[in-house]
Amino acid sequence: MSSQIDHLLDEGRRFAPSPAFAAQANGTSDLYKRAAADREEFWADQARDLLHWHTPFTQTLDWSNPPFAKWFDDGQLSVAYNCLDRHVEAGNGDRVAILFEGESGDERRITYAELTAEVKKAANMLESLGIGHGDRVAIYLPMIPEAAIAMLACARVGAIHSVVFGGFSADSLRSRVDDAAARLVITADGGYRKGRVSPLKPAVDMALADRGTGPQETVEHVVVVKRGGNDIDWTEGRDLWWHDMLEQADAEHEAQPFPAENPLYILYTSGTTGKPKGVVHTSGGYLTQAVFTNKYVLDIHPDSDVFWCTADIGWVTGHTYVVYGPLALGATQVMYEGTPDTPHPGRWWELIQKYGVSILYTAPTAIRSFMKQGRQIPQQFDLSSIRLLGSVGEPINPEAWIWYRDIIGGGEAPIVDTWWQTETGAAMIAALPGVTDAKPGAAQVPLPGISVDVVDETGHQVPNGKGGLLVLTEPWPAMLRGVWGDPERFKETYWEKFADQGYYFAGDGARKDEDSEIWLLGRVDDVMNVSGHRLSTTEIESALVAHESTAEAAVVGAKDDTTGEAVVAFVIIKESYLSAHSPEGLAGTLRQWVSQQIGAIARPRDIYIVSELPKTRSGKIMRRLLRDVADGREVGDTTTLADTAVMSIISAQVK
Ligand code: WTA
Repeated sequence: MSSQIDHLLDEGRRFAPSPAFAAQANGTSDLYKRAAADREEFWADQARDLLHWHTPFTQTLDWSNPPFAKWFDDGQLSVAYNCLDRHVEAGNGDRVAILFEGESGDERRITYAELTAEVKKAANMLESLGIGHGDRVAIYLPMIPEAAIAMLACARVGAIHSVVFGGFSADSLRSRVDDAAARLVITADGGYRKGRVSPLKPAVDMALADRGTGPQETVEHVVVVKRGGNDIDWTEGRDLWWHDMLEQADAEHEAQPFPAENPLYILYTSGTTGKPKGVVHTSGGYLTQAVFTNKYVLDIHPDSDVFWCTADIGWVTGHTYVVYGPLALGATQVMYEGTPDTPHPGRWWELIQKYGVSILYTAPTAIRSFMKQGRQIPQQFDLSSIRLLGSVGEPINPEAWIWYRDIIGGGEAPIVDTWWQTETGAAMIAALPGVTDAKPGAAQVPLPGISVDVVDETGHQVPNGKGGLLVLTEPWPAMLRGVWGDPERFKETYWEKFADQGYYFAGDGARKDEDSEIWLLGRVDDVMNVSGHRLSTTEIESALVAHESTAEAAVVGAKDDTTGEAVVAFVIIKESYLSAHSPEGLAGTLRQWVSQQIGAIARPRDIYIVSELPKTRSGKIMRRLLRDVADGREVGDTTTLADTAVMSIISAQVK
């Protein structure tokens, strides 16, 4: 790892923004000056400037009970009003909010007036089902406008949404529905993926089956959007069609304000244990930083840009950079349902040409897979509308960065590499594209008003050039307010490690270069990053050992040219199964099993059947050594192993 980083830090290229870009950019160096002069006042100014407050706040930050922050606490606002009605009232009702393209080529252009009208009806539908302030609603939908409409309708009535990525399994959905005690699930019959209908409703039926024994039998209704047209089972009394409900719903709905700290959503994310955490975000601070970063980092000019963030609504990037940020800013954006290679590998570039996309925000894993296919594919399309590119989800290697800029950005578009997390709610470390000279591979500088550092295990700042742990040293507006139902886990996971200093521990390794700019080095905990998606090693291990054939399992993230990391599992199979099945058959079964248990993104790339796992004397699996094997490196220091011969046995078995 560290030799690879040294190589990265040798990357000497710098790309200054062109004078033309800098002249039109929303963000100027003045933002840094103002934030440095008074950090809290800076955020208060942003909150007042970027949002509409029904009741203005008088307090900016209450940090009297860390780590529980309150921002703009005595203010009241409606997140939905900020994303919808105010644009219509300002005379921009005819501006397109969403340029939707289905995978099979169907199109919908939804203006702000139309989106507002739909959300009003959906809010009335929720209220007619008894959903109101504080209720939890699980949303399990494909990438279609109804996903945004459902989220905004929840926000409008003060309900808390929990969006579950449509690629997750019935079991994953069930545990999320249960943890949040959701009263309603909004889903679709199916959506289009890879040229066919991928059903969703059956997973909801499975997730809600055999209930009545647990304490959490909370779901009263399932509202189903008709999208795939696939046959589905129907539970009378529980299941309702979205279109029927909206047809019956009143058209008028006045947006009520809620306190700034009203919870807006829960989003589950993998941590170092088997159980995903429900990260809680609230309203005023979250929306402030969401809009701030859309305006100044992604440099969206709502009256002229066409923005496209390719993230699915099931991830935090889809929350902040598809729904809340762009809509609160009044931007026009593309929303695409399907996969990048359907029906042909140039689909994204065709969409950019068709809609005149000017700002593209995507993940390094996508860029690397396009690189592999070759530049001749994007070069068949007119990408001259692109003026800015963004990257998120994992470190972007300089080769991919340069390719992105040259081939997609016409050799000119600035690239903003944005570091952040589900927990931070919005971008934290990123260049301002009209100000900062870009460095390929580095996330670079904290945003104005954001304080970060790189420290050693004891919380002391490490000198430039030396690796350490990334910490956030001051509270920020979009920070998570907790872990749903588990304040202790919130404290333990993020705040205990550097309790003396009061720092937030991000779980990422980082290094500052000679200009004090930040390079991210990947996770330091047992969290993997596969295609920019967080997966927990422990969660996959628990799934593996839940299979009857498996005695023990260890999972690591191995290097992968396209996905960044790939899931590699080492499993010990019970004797009775080993003798009766071929290793290939067992590996295939387990791969399939993990997909069913968690979702296809968690399916291991490789499964090695071994007879031992490397453990310390206290029984902790040394994943570091397994990573060496998975990456084909020489195995590192084995002296702390209980049995030092184990690694040679494993190395021989995986060949
Ligand atoms: C990683 C996604 C390097 C990091 C928004 C972080 C990055 C985790 C970057 C959060 C980046 C995200 N450079 N690493 N620009 N962006 N990461 O919660 O390890 O899905 O902790 O949020 O992704 O993943 P999450």
